[in-house]
Amino acid sequence: MQNKVTKAILPVAGLGTRFLPATKSVPKEIMTLVDRPLVQYAIDEARAAGIKEFIFVTSRGKGALEDYFDAAPQLEQQLRQKGKDALLDLLKSTNMDSGEVAYLRQHKPLGLGHAVWCARRLIANEPFAVILPDDVIAAEQPCLAQMVEAHAETGGNMVAAMEVPEARTSSYGILDVAEDMGSVVSTRGMVEKPAAGEAPSNLAVIGRYILTPRVLQKLNRKKAGAGGEIQLTDAIADARDDGDDVWGYRFRGERFDCGSKAGFLQATVAFALARDDLRDDLARYLAEVVNADRAAQ
Ligand code: G1P
Repeated sequence: MQNKVTKAILPVAGLGTRFLPATKSVPKEIMTLVDRPLVQYAIDEARAAGIKEFIFVTSRGKGALEDYFDAAPQLEQQLRQKGKDALLDLLKSTNMDSGEVAYLRQHKPLGLGHAVWCARRLIANEPFAVILPDDVIAAEQPCLAQMVEAHAETGGNMVAAMEVPEARTSSYGILDVAEDMGSVVSTRGMVEKPAAGEAPSNLAVIGRYILTPRVLQKLNRKKAGAGGEIQLTDAIADARDDGDDVWGYRFRGERFDCGSKAGFLQATVAFALARDDLRDDLARYLAEVVNADRAAQ
């Protein structure tokens, strides 16, 4: 019987330079997909997977993120007085309980592996999840919940995985597949951002992980990898070399790369079209735009 996965690390220290000037004063994770901050999607997914403790690895200028999860007594009182109960419930559903959330800072941008390592003292001898909020996954059963179920069978380390075109493999961690069993693959390791033509497969790591404490031990070495950064991918591969299993999990769902503008816009459209209150107007508008574009060609 595996230990339950109850803690998630959410690395949110990145500067978000791809979204400047917006990210000059707004943390990227607070930017909204329809009407919810990006990070709220990650929290909803984590809760659906049974996560009880959220560890944010932040950096300077991320204060708005902490405020977002805090109670907002004045606003709540005003909504209560005005009888806006539905809004009040919505607002309160975003509050974190005391002790449910921890924020710690990554003082230097030394890489994703280093960001995860910063949380090491808050993780005991237990498996833990890592969620990269930039990767937003629309799925009937949320991605991390799918993985927790699969992990209950496999144990070890598990990463979300998705096929990507060969030309894109150098943008991802790529799995070295040993045996492909369909939704689960066993691996001989993984490589971070392999050079063109050197990828061991086209199965890419997407930002959901269930990891063993051994990965944190490996991160202790602070070994620099691709791009001169301390890579989580390398620590997982090192844990495998020491005997840990590393599984890839092909999730069911659609992943949006909200670290890029195109991905963020696509996610905005997809999530808006999934909403009863927005679908019709937006679909009509999109059809008009497409028709006008065709007519102009
Ligand atoms: C990170 C990881 C990479 C993974 C990717 C998924 O890279 O280092 O292994 O494939 O997230 O989004 P980043 O996109 O932060 O460069």
